[in-house]
Amino acid sequence: MSGLDHFDLLAPIYDRLIRQPGDDRLTEAISLPIRGRLLDAGGGTGRVAAKLAPCAGSVVVADASLEMLRQARRKPALLTVASRAERLPFPDRCYERIVLVDAYHHLESQTDALADLWRVLAPGGRLVIEEPDIRFRAVWLIALVEKLVRMRSHFVPAELIAAELAGLGAETDIRRSGHTVWVIGEKH
Ligand SMILES: C[S@@+](CC[C@H](N)C(=O)[O-])C[C@H]1O[C@@H](n2cnc3c(N)ncnc32)[C@H](O)[C@@H]1O
Repeated sequence: MSGLDHFDLLAPIYDRLIRQPGDDRLTEAISLPIRGRLLDAGGGTGRVAAKLAPCAGSVVVADASLEMLRQARRKPALLTVASRAERLPFPDRCYERIVLVDAYHHLESQTDALADLWRVLAPGGRLVIEEPDIRFRAVWLIALVEKLVRMRSHFVPAELIAAELAGLGAETDIRRSGHTVWVIGEKH
């Protein structure tokens, strides 16, 4: 079973399994509100996008799982696009903000996805990658369980993500709270 099949299966119960986004750390990291476009890549059921939608002109949820997107379409104000983050069907520089929440470790090619997310980010825009912080033993255990159920997860330290973004030309920052880490890349 591939990682994506897992999400097709989990989709109908995903929003009940995973807690809803609580505090405003992500909103702060992504620097909202904006009038422009926000992309939630690997956005799944739109759990996070639905919370961000009132703070942006438009919000697109892109995801590789059709079943996850089916759930996202039930939420108001979200546009959905079936797409892998490694090869986005958007023109260059068209999103002012991009988030990738809890999805980086699931990507087939993290390098290709970062490059394509960077390509569609507008100058002056910001990309935020939210991940469980692999420095913690609890996150290690989650990584182990995901490996055991063959979810093809690949967790990497936030510093490596930031270094890769810096290599693309980003000004980077890393923020942490509890077991969560945010890697921020700004495009000048
Ligand atoms: C743990 S879920 C997180 C969903 C959403 N971001 C959230 O926080 O609720 C990971 C999501 O990444 C998606 N995904 C996995 N690999 C992907 C890829 N290569 N491109 C786009 N989405 C992908 C899965 O389909 C799934 O919806």
